[in-house]
Amino acid sequence: MTTSADYSEKIPNNVSLHEDRRLQRALESWQPNFLDWWQTMGPALPTQDVYLRTAVNVGREGWAQFGHVAMPEYRWGIFLAERDPGRRVGFGEHKGEPVWDKVPGEYRADLLRLIVVQGDTEPASVEQQRNLGATAPSLYDLRNLFQVNVEEGRHLWAMVYLLHAYFGREGREEAEELLHRNSGSADAPRILGAFNEETPDWLSFFMFTYFTDRDGKYQLGTLKESAFDPLSRTCEFMLKEEAHHMMVGTTGVDRVVERTAQLMAEHETDEVAALGAISLPVIQKYLNFHYSVSLDLFGGETSTNVANYYTAGLKGRWSEDRRQDDHQLTDDSMMVDALVDGADGGQSIGELEVPALTGLNTDLRRQYINDCRGGVNRWNKILADAGLPQRLSLPHIAFNRKVGAFAGIEASPEGEQLTAEAWRRRQGEWLPTDVDKTHVRSLMRPVHERGKIAAWIAPPRNGINGRPFDYDYVHLA
Ligand SMILES: [Fe+2]
Ligand SMILES: [Fe+2]
Repeated sequence: MTTSADYSEKIPNNVSLHEDRRLQRALESWQPNFLDWWQTMGPALPTQDVYLRTAVNVGREGWAQFGHVAMPEYRWGIFLAERDPGRRVGFGEHKGEPVWDKVPGEYRADLLRLIVVQGDTEPASVEQQRNLGATAPSLYDLRNLFQVNVEEGRHLWAMVYLLHAYFGREGREEAEELLHRNSGSADAPRILGAFNEETPDWLSFFMFTYFTDRDGKYQLGTLKESAFDPLSRTCEFMLKEEAHHMMVGTTGVDRVVERTAQLMAEHETDEVAALGAISLPVIQKYLNFHYSVSLDLFGGETSTNVANYYTAGLKGRWSEDRRQDDHQLTDDSMMVDALVDGADGGQSIGELEVPALTGLNTDLRRQYINDCRGGVNRWNKILADAGLPQRLSLPHIAFNRKVGAFAGIEASPEGEQLTAEAWRRRQGEWLPTDVDKTHVRSLMRPVHERGKIAAWIAPPRNGINGRPFDYDYVHLA
């Protein structure tokens, strides 16, 4: 019947949506609510069209197409990576059994929770970045912002599809709630702390896409291992898109550091603020902030919930199949970061041995930390190449933590334990102060002219999809 083809056109997908009319109608009735949310909470800067990538397929020979699109007409679709018919559970007590095409009753509540928490982060970042368009340093950057925004919108679709398709009425209600909670809202905030912070300027945006989207990469990496096959396939495809978000963050910070280093070398001064750029100490403070709030996203150092998720096969480890162990971990132990009791009755920052299953959050956080070191090394190479002795660094794991073992103490970026009083006095040396934020914000004047760029950031090495930097990436309204 031709009508079913028309229906499925409304929501591009590779899940044969037209074969399940109930599901199709449910998603079609969620669609206008999504569009309402996009109009009120999505990008505020009016545009005619934007040069965007749209997911059209999941195949190896190209999965996306590029073209100028009016943003409200973007084709948010549902795409799952191809099914591997022989796939088996890779870890936990169901290891070796065929993966699940349906949600097992005993894991329904846990899977629902995992999907809702992941789903909640996707629209949150769009909300956080809503006003950034007004101060974009170039059309290239503006386009990248919008690309990240529409894809986070698609990631919301990805999670809402799972909720609608596998969790019945409860899933549909949760899908509505994903649009009702809002970043920073007093009544109905987003679930995780970092997603209620504001992203008021472009340095924050680049740090967010480097550090916080990277947390997303690791969370998706664990869900990609899930025995619940539709979740696994969804996350596998989301990871493809996520790579671009991190590229935006990595090269964004590269370009800020590059510009700062260039001015420092040229003028033989560390005081580049007067030259219209962002000083290295301020870059370091932004890094400290975004890194530490992103570490919190991995949860407590130890967690019995996560141990249960692993044993049940719901959520694996990063690169599960490359781990050289039994993938069940019932007899293993590991060292986790912890506060340990000292002889004097006080507590100090140290390590504690725990069952490996309970320490899985720490395992994932360490994978992430190693990855973050790559960024810092890159940025330090830019400084070294400019002939400068200064270096950036990741703060200590106990620095500025609000979640987990170190939530109750204060520590310097070097990991020295501080009294509350010393922390109050000195935190402005390590975290952005109002003065720092005001200065950074004062630099955020829009450059919406083709081929031009703001003075506080270097131009990118490459454009998008082979286009030059001075391409007309965005047509403003
Ligand atoms: Fe995402
Ligand atoms: Fe992302």
